[in-house]
Amino acid sequence: MERSFWLQRWASGRIGFHNSEVNSLLQRHHEAVLAGRGRVLVPLCGKSLDLWWLRDQGHEVVGVELAETAVRAFFEEAGVEPRVRSEGALTAWSTEGLTLLQGDFFDLTGRFDAVWDRAALVALPPPLRVRYAQHLRSRVDGTGLLVTFDYPQAERDGPPFAVLDDEVRSLFPGARPLETQEITEAINQRGWGLSHIEERVYALDLSQ
Ligand SMILES: C[S@@+](CC[C@H](N)C(=O)[O-])C[C@H]1O[C@@H](n2cnc3c(N)ncnc32)[C@H](O)[C@@H]1O
Repeated sequence: MERSFWLQRWASGRIGFHNSEVNSLLQRHHEAVLAGRGRVLVPLCGKSLDLWWLRDQGHEVVGVELAETAVRAFFEEAGVEPRVRSEGALTAWSTEGLTLLQGDFFDLTGRFDAVWDRAALVALPPPLRVRYAQHLRSRVDGTGLLVTFDYPQAERDGPPFAVLDDEVRSLFPGARPLETQEITEAINQRGWGLSHIEERVYALDLSQ
């Protein structure tokens, strides 16, 4: 998607992807896949509460988010005053154990021990997903948790896009499905009108 698409979504408050609770798949599978990993990357992080939760598990957490509105809201809503400084092409907003890098994910440098991807890969159209996976794999040496949606793409335009099992395995060789939940009823209450939709979480092996 164009940068302007996301900036407009944040500017007009159309952020239906934002959850007011910590993601339950993260909480269920963290111990097996991410626990003990030092530096955890959260790409395309919005103002997700998962960031604070990961910090509280003892990780050094780094989120990357395009929209300054989201980064500002993340700290304001927590009542935290961040330190702000330039870091290459990005702007780093930091507090104890947690940094949000405001800017384009594709400008991210540095190395990470793990990744939590919820609503990041699925936010991107197909050609960008290849670029995203390549850049992610170049930055992370370790493990990851990835959440995807599986639904008939012809029934609805993304984002979020359907990212099916074959594509996940081609983008991330060794990806291992951990849990699949059927969420059709809950999603259709939000007016999506899909014949079926499943949410799936994968363990990623990004060791290099
Ligand atoms: C669907 S939202 C998901 C946010 C978050 N992961 C969550 O679970 O609430 C996708 C986010 O990615 C951000 N974004 C889109 N393209 C980006 C890019 N190239 N670099 C950094 N952030 C980006 C958008 O501003 C938006 O906040």
